[in-house]
Amino acid sequence: MGQAIVIEKLRKSFGKTVALADVDLQVSAGVVYGLLGPNGAGKTTAVRILATLMRADSGRALIDGHDVARDGEAVRRIIGLTGQYAALDEALTGRENLVLIARLHGLSARDARRRADALLEQVGLSEAALRSVRTYSGGMRRRVDLAASLVGRPRVLFLDEPTTGLDPASRLALWDLVAMIVRDGATVLLSSQYLEEVDRLAARIAVLDHGRVIAEGTPGELKARAGGQVVALRVEAADVDAATAALAPMGHARAALDEITVPAHDESSLLEAMTRLRDAGIAVEEIALRRPTLDEVFLNLTGDGGANGEKAA
Ligand SMILES: Nc1ncnc2c1ncn2[C@@H]1O[C@H](COP(=O)(O)OP(=O)(O)OP(=O)(O)O)[C@@H](O)[C@H]1O
Ligand SMILES: [Mg+2]
Repeated sequence: MGQAIVIEKLRKSFGKTVALADVDLQVSAGVVYGLLGPNGAGKTTAVRILATLMRADSGRALIDGHDVARDGEAVRRIIGLTGQYAALDEALTGRENLVLIARLHGLSARDARRRADALLEQVGLSEAALRSVRTYSGGMRRRVDLAASLVGRPRVLFLDEPTTGLDPASRLALWDLVAMIVRDGATVLLSSQYLEEVDRLAARIAVLDHGRVIAEGTPGELKARAGGQVVALRVEAADVDAATAALAPMGHARAALDEITVPAHDESSLLEAMTRLRDAGIAVEEIALRRPTLDEVFLNLTGDGGANGEKAA
């Protein structure tokens, strides 16, 4: 099996808002594919169309060769989706919910219980298995939701911002779980605003912005595209503007995340930056030469890196 997901010229508008503008994407089977984008970029819209919960205006999408618009039933048999899909019953325990879903998938009572217990163990919910879902914390809900989406052993799993709101330990646990799901042969489409998350998990990444794919490639390729190394430095808050101006002749100097970065050619760029700041009478607190982070790539690509989609909507 080559491509698990094929998207061709997919378009979707809500009134005047173009949520997806002729998106083309291919996701090969057996990998985590990252869908990265700021608020309102179109990630959830894409996932909902792929999961047959919403229709595109034009274009088409295939999951394992099945057209989501024409063959929704076949698509639903092979996908899993966290979020809207699993309608959990609040009054039931986590285990009862999973057993119920397993029964709906046609498992015998005994196999359903086994499957439920194995999944509860995998998502680290064994201890809370016998409590009603009503008493679960947000993180526990997300995990039981993920377990529910795994009951049917999906070949293609959609995770729409699965770790938003999770504490660091739960996030790590979920990353492990995603890695395991893929080792077992499934394909995962992971949407996220966390660059660290896709950097760590995804084999390839598409960056969406205003409904368009503005970059696509491996995490390494995207970082390389941002252009080699950067000089990263810190100055006192009061000096940030002056320092950015002093470094401007070296290229696009950017102040973000408490740090100023400038494109670097080699070690001499480090010296040049220090000299320019000294000539401007600015004290440097910290300076280093390093590769750009995916965050910087993302900020470069999307302009301000957030809130733009929602503002436009
Ligand atoms: N049902 C809807 N009705 C009207 N507009 C919508 C609807 N769903 C999405 N939109 C708009 O489409 C655009 C894309 O939304 P979408 O939810 O796909 O973004 P997203 O990338 O998932 O954002 P976030 O990171 O905030 O979840 C936004 O401008 C949004 O306001
Ligand atoms: Mg979303």
